[in-house]
Amino acid sequence: MAVSTMTEMGEPQVGRPGDPCVMVIFGAGGDLTRRKLIPALYNLAASNLLSREFAVVGLAREQMSTDQFREKFNKDIKEFATGALSSDLTEWFTRRLYYMSGEFSDPKAYQQLAQLLQQVDKDHGTQGNYFYYMATSPIFFAPIVQQLGTAGLMTESKDVWRRVIVEKPFGRDLETAKTLNRQLMEVVKESQIYRIDHYLGKETVQNILAFRFANGIFEPIWNRRYIDHVQITVAETVGVENRGGYYEEAGTLRDMVPNHIFQLITLTAMEPPISFQADAVRDEQAKILHAIQPLSSEDVLTRAVRGQYGEGHDPAKRMVAYRSESSVNPDSSTETFVAMRLQIDNWRWADVPFYLRTGKRLPQRHTEVAIQFRRAPFILFRDTPVERLTPNLMVLHIQPEEGISLSFGAKVPGPIMRLGAVNMNFAYSDYFGTTSATGYERLLHDCMIGDATLFQRADMVEAGWSVVTPILDVWKALRPRNFPNYPAGTWGPREADELLERDGRHWRGNGAGPARSMSAAAHES
Ligand code: BG6
Repeated sequence: MAVSTMTEMGEPQVGRPGDPCVMVIFGAGGDLTRRKLIPALYNLAASNLLSREFAVVGLAREQMSTDQFREKFNKDIKEFATGALSSDLTEWFTRRLYYMSGEFSDPKAYQQLAQLLQQVDKDHGTQGNYFYYMATSPIFFAPIVQQLGTAGLMTESKDVWRRVIVEKPFGRDLETAKTLNRQLMEVVKESQIYRIDHYLGKETVQNILAFRFANGIFEPIWNRRYIDHVQITVAETVGVENRGGYYEEAGTLRDMVPNHIFQLITLTAMEPPISFQADAVRDEQAKILHAIQPLSSEDVLTRAVRGQYGEGHDPAKRMVAYRSESSVNPDSSTETFVAMRLQIDNWRWADVPFYLRTGKRLPQRHTEVAIQFRRAPFILFRDTPVERLTPNLMVLHIQPEEGISLSFGAKVPGPIMRLGAVNMNFAYSDYFGTTSATGYERLLHDCMIGDATLFQRADMVEAGWSVVTPILDVWKALRPRNFPNYPAGTWGPREADELLERDGRHWRGNGAGPARSMSAAAHES
């Protein structure tokens, strides 16, 4: 894995620029291209991580000339690039943008694309290296790759590479994911496929690996002997916004769990890889996915909870019910909240529950992995008021705060022995300033240098769906009778709390909310 690190002197060590290449974006008219991809490329150029021999070809149905495309992105870069803007660089960058309109199903479009790419190679020295980004509806993923194959645009040679980046959703369930993998592999090798998950572009998600494996002191306690359970929360305040049509088909389980949340689980739970080579890391992640105990139909009823938001109760913030959102069926049984209890059946994690919850229209935007350690034997303190003392807790804060906190017990000053919980905090921004990236820089750069560590392999995607598909099946067969079952702006349905209460536990920060500032959690016991 190519890593940008700080030296002990605090000087940044940056990686090498990407190879000379052309990025072809299918579906270049969409929001992803405008808000993330083009600004991320610009940021890479600003950090000297983009080759000087680089170009972008946007392809979409919409009629537009290359000049109009350049003009559009000239404006968008100014709006969305997060790094410092320079007019010379913007000018250099926009001169490398090309556009062609075409139907994804039309073979002629691919012949035209091949000619354009040859011309771009000549003009910009891009050496025939191409990567194709599928920023389209998933129904086009396989047909586009098949057409690229037929047009000879996926053929590699000794000095030339061709890759394809596939966005989520990667299938709708195990069967469709397998079909898509098979269809892609009829045309390309696994090593040419980069299945992207934008969670892995987040610094704090990558930091889980650094935190666990660059420090000697945590690994010895990172197991069932010392850890009571793990809680993963991915909470969003937004509703489905203008994506009602997509969401009706997907639902929260498909949208968030087999991808983003499973990334957090695998990085938290995996064994140390033998190296940071792509397959060494991904082998260990895959083992965790295979070790997640599949839920039987009965388990789904007791260990998985679904919810759908109703209208909000706060008169100051008008929040409509999911069923009243645009493009949503007024009788919809699509879930907007999921909570579940998973077990990882291996030596390290046997009997340590992993609780996860995610949902739309929750009270705070907050993503974290909380590791709750086992309680100490408080025999020494039995004659003191300690009954409310919480066990040690380590929280990996992913967003919007980025950092790590550890809470432990300390003596409250005074003449009697009283204990309180205090926090030790690390905030990214204190050490490294605020990061100004879209989250796609690292992933695009990795693809340009052929590092697939942070991309999903076919077997990982399928293993993820194997866990989720039995739940989808039960939920499909049993229509929820109590939807909507949580008001917008609350922490999900009551059953989500009961899921933990049955085990004598509770969600961290419910009510007060987990997103309190990290230091404010001190003195709460
Ligand atoms: C996307 C989902 O993959 O991730 C969205 O489709 C969700 O529904 C988003 O809102 C969350 O990403 P982030 O980076 O805002 O946590």
